Amino acid sequence: MAATSVLNEPAYAHVFDQKEDVISAAKNGLSWTYHADKDAQYVLPNNSPEHIRLEQQAVLLSGLMNHRIFHAPVKDGPHLQCLDIGCGTGIVTDTMATTLPQAQCFGVDLSPVPNMRAPKPNVRFFQGNVGTQPPSQWIPNDRESGFERDHEVFDYVFSRLLIFGVTDWPAYIRTQFDLLKPGGWAEVHDCDWTYFNEAEEVISDEWSWLQTLHSICEGEKGMDFQCGRKVAQWMEQAGFRDIQVFKYKWSYDPLSTQEPGVREFGEWQVRWQPEMINTMIERSVTSGHGAGMVEHNAIVRMQDEMRKCLAPEKGKHIWFYVTIGQKPPGVA
Ligand SMILES: C[S@@+](CC[C@H](N)C(=O)[O-])C[C@H]1O[C@@H](n2cnc3c(N)ncnc32)[C@H](O)[C@@H]1O
Repeated sequence: MAATSVLNEPAYAHVFDQKEDVISAAKNGLSWTYHADKDAQYVLPNNSPEHIRLEQQAVLLSGLMNHRIFHAPVKDGPHLQCLDIGCGTGIVTDTMATTLPQAQCFGVDLSPVPNMRAPKPNVRFFQGNVGTQPPSQWIPNDRESGFERDHEVFDYVFSRLLIFGVTDWPAYIRTQFDLLKPGGWAEVHDCDWTYFNEAEEVISDEWSWLQTLHSICEGEKGMDFQCGRKVAQWMEQAGFRDIQVFKYKWSYDPLSTQEPGVREFGEWQVRWQPEMINTMIERSVTSGHGAGMVEHNAIVRMQDEMRKCLAPEKGKHIWFYVTIGQKPPGVA
């Protein structure tokens, strides 16, 4: 079935109205803020323009996936416990709670989750670093008590776009395995940061801004810019079974595709992704310590080159992978 437009849906109107001002405010000198966890390497900001970017991206990603965010065969039930790791604004946690109304849905993030929508009774948010802290150390955003157990807590563990946050992917996937009860499902949505043309040839190998980010974020921080395609192998190594992979085209081509979901995503990407990468370049190069003059000039050169490389182009895309796997029912 072809994807349909998300932009005309009343349910999403609030995500796209009056937001431009906030994003322009960011461009005109609003200070970005970042998470405060000294053990986390995540390089994107955590204040309101980034929240708006994430909300818009989430709506458009839903359109790209034909409104089917969740791929694992999880059935609703009264004792189901579901987790959204790196939940950002909580938009997927909220959708999860609608899709699985009898389940208890939890979101955890390095930064406090902003209040962007009416709270649902089956949603709770926590602050924590999934790379270094077990659930019992996550801080609830409400006044209720936290998790008592650290292993086999959840029936469904979901994460999306942790490419700039996870610094040891095999360990992260093992953590998901450990957090799941036997028979539970993991679902990971992430991309490979390699650009292709229409003929499926790699076009980004010579882009020096991207190679510089590769060497800083992968070489120094331990991220993996090809995590999307590798999740299946890490799931296999961790002991998951019934692993399945679904691929979506993350387009930079607003012009030639006829599919509304892909086209709208492409339109939004070419407009807003350079703003996101601008902040990422600065944060990665300076490690948050501020730039000297040499660094400042290098940053501006990288940003200029990046904007040229990410100009809209027929068939230009990266790949977005959805990988699901089940923890075998008899395994602790
Ligand atoms: C690109 S955002 C994606 C947010 C959300 N998953 C979505 O798709 O809208 C990545 C989020 O992961 C969070 N994050 C990164 N590393 C993390 C970690 N080690 N533990 C918990 N959250 C983390 C960041 O704070 C950020 O909110």
